[in-house]
Amino acid sequence: MSSADAPRSVTVPEFRAAKARGVKLAVVTAYDYTSARLCDEAGVDAILVGDSLGMVVQGHPTSLPVTLDEMIYHTRCVVRGARRALVVADLPFLTYQVSPRQAVRNAGRLLKEAGAHAVKLEGGVRMRATVKACIDAGIPVMGHVGLTPQAFHQLGGFKVQRDAVALLADAVAVEEAGAFAVVVESVPVDIGTRITAAVKIPTVGIGAGAGCDGQVLVFHDMMGLFPDFKPKFAKRYSDLGSAVKQAVETYCKEVRDGSFPATEHTFR
Ligand code: KIV
Repeated sequence: MSSADAPRSVTVPEFRAAKARGVKLAVVTAYDYTSARLCDEAGVDAILVGDSLGMVVQGHPTSLPVTLDEMIYHTRCVVRGARRALVVADLPFLTYQVSPRQAVRNAGRLLKEAGAHAVKLEGGVRMRATVKACIDAGIPVMGHVGLTPQAFHQLGGFKVQRDAVALLADAVAVEEAGAFAVVVESVPVDIGTRITAAVKIPTVGIGAGAGCDGQVLVFHDMMGLFPDFKPKFAKRYSDLGSAVKQAVETYCKEVRDGSFPATEHTFR
């Protein structure tokens, strides 16, 4: 049995049931084995292999260039590090928008070739048939409404979304289509709270306030690793960026002054 097939502590039905049990869900993104393993051991409920890797790993200004093969590669790495957490993989831009058939085929690759337990896709009402097609094929889907970063150009940037009626309709649509949870991104706190009250599936907020059933943060944002941009909603739990820079500066100095490697790092 591969690690992807092994029984997990957090399953899709358990993740979904957390809302009814009143248990808040802690989700983080990860893109590689080491960070996935650390997050898993720290007790997160789910790891999202987000297409935000296009920005924080690949250095693009948006997630749009990320390919399905890249998502499969990163998801495989994460699956090897996640022993307990549910692993959800993003379907990247233009791998599911063309048709429900395209979505099923590509979502299936994330489960079959990469070992993900579920996929996430962006969009509400307009994605109803696509979410349903994946569910009908046995592929668990996490929805994503509010600010949908793959619509960066259509939305005119990473902007807070405020159309309460449309946002509620989007969340209800993905629930009705069968999604087991929904990410709600960059909406005012009252809208995040209203969406959470309106659906029975857990809402996982990012910039959607404390009224959501859970929260998700991008690993590099929460660790202070991403220098280009810090969203208002991202709390820095650590300043690893400064620690890494300082460590590498010390290494450079020690190599140059001959104090590294010392005797204990040397074979005799
Ligand atoms: O790509 C990603 O990391 C995401 C989260 C920000 C929710 O979609």
